[in-house]
Amino acid sequence: MKIIEAKDYNKMSALAADYIIEKIKANPNLNLGLATGGTPVGIYSNLINDHQKNGLSYRNITTFNLDEYVGLSGENPNSYRYYMDDQLFNHIDIQKSKTNIPRGDVADIQKECLDYEKLIANQGGIDLQILGIGSNGHIGFNEPGTSFDSNTHVVQLAPSTLEANARFFNSPEEVPTEAVTMGIATIMKSKQILLLISGESKKEALFRLINGEVNESFPASVLKNHPCVTIIADEAALADIKVHS
Ligand code: F6R
Repeated sequence: MKIIEAKDYNKMSALAADYIIEKIKANPNLNLGLATGGTPVGIYSNLINDHQKNGLSYRNITTFNLDEYVGLSGENPNSYRYYMDDQLFNHIDIQKSKTNIPRGDVADIQKECLDYEKLIANQGGIDLQILGIGSNGHIGFNEPGTSFDSNTHVVQLAPSTLEANARFFNSPEEVPTEAVTMGIATIMKSKQILLLISGESKKEALFRLINGEVNESFPASVLKNHPCVTIIADEAALADIKVHS
């Protein structure tokens, strides 16, 4: 795993956006895996600025998001479909038909999981997957204990994740307790992975990722088995780690 140090959140976002922009320039048909949450917001606004200023086109880009809440339709402002449209897709020239997010509001959720897995495979797999990390080490919504062999599946969200996500909802009771997520094996099939880590609240997770063992009790540790992972982390997250550049 290669670690790039950024001074703060803004610098991390700018570096990550530049990284993605270079990948798109090298391959305008890139299959790009995307994340939601607080961490990538700055990246998406940098991508929008670049698109408006420099005209980089997303017309032939296909995206696959990591996850979606079960029970929320895309019109619900707390759904990840809504988030992606609002934070990125509505502001660039991407074709909405090429933006893929698991559906959380379908009758047959198990079929949705199988279909999503097939969709990614039929498109030739994900070239670059963007990831954030939970303070408990989750990636996507793969909570501690998730099998490293898991494909896209339905999960019960851990209490710490519900608590962390409550900030986006009017009340804690509104936070859905289940989500559909790419599995660990799905994520590991991506050709390249870009992991973003920002802030003091992620300090322990980053320390454990770097220094701990590869173990299902800390899902992100699996990334040590991937041949092409880049981490961009800010100083607050890296506080307990020495970066050798
Ligand atoms: C989001 C996702 C999650 C988040 C993680 C960190 O699609 O899959 O794994 O990346 O929960 O969230 P933030 O960035 O809000 O700290």
